[in-house]
Amino acid sequence: MYDMNNDIKSVLVSEEEIDKIVTKVAAEIDRDYGDSDRRLLLLAILKGSVVFMGDLMKKIKRPVEIDFMRVSSYTGTETRGKVDILLDLHRNDLPDMDIIIVEDIVDSGKTLSYLTEYLKLKGANSVKCATMLDKPVRRKVKFDADYVGMTVPDYFVVGYGLDFDEKYRTLPYIGILKPEIYNN
Ligand code: IMP
Ligand code: MG
Repeated sequence: MYDMNNDIKSVLVSEEEIDKIVTKVAAEIDRDYGDSDRRLLLLAILKGSVVFMGDLMKKIKRPVEIDFMRVSSYTGTETRGKVDILLDLHRNDLPDMDIIIVEDIVDSGKTLSYLTEYLKLKGANSVKCATMLDKPVRRKVKFDADYVGMTVPDYFVVGYGLDFDEKYRTLPYIGILKPEIYNN
């Protein structure tokens, strides 16, 4: 059987570390929104953030609603720099909502700076962002996430939702892909 683990050079964030990180982010969200009566929407950006989203929503104690958008800015390991909305948010109650965009990783920052503006223009009461990983050295536009699981160096990483050409999303840890995999 093909074993995806053999394509991983090393583990960057283990399952145990991921669990601690998600617990920390959930506690920060409860700290910031726990006393508010406004509706809170966790907005996962498909597909990369589904695993983080699933874990995070279970650990937040205050009530949250969930929704999804799908955007595309990547092919292979390089960003195209242009954000396409592939699945939009069709709802008219955004003025009642505080939104937390849930992302797998912030890289150039283009996806999230675009989406934050977009959701504010659609009338959301507030828009913040929670990301599992942050690669600040890759930033092309200024963007700071409000909740950051872990800051990582400039490696191309996979697992825990993150893919390389749609593969490796199902790995339970975050790993550094062997360069020969993406150089082929
Ligand atoms: P940004 O617009 O450049 O910040 O792109 C963010 C998106 O690029 C993420 O949601 C990921 O889908 C993808 N991405 C960035 N870095 C990586 C990585 O190291 N592995 C897998 N996907 C990545
Ligand atoms: Mg991706």
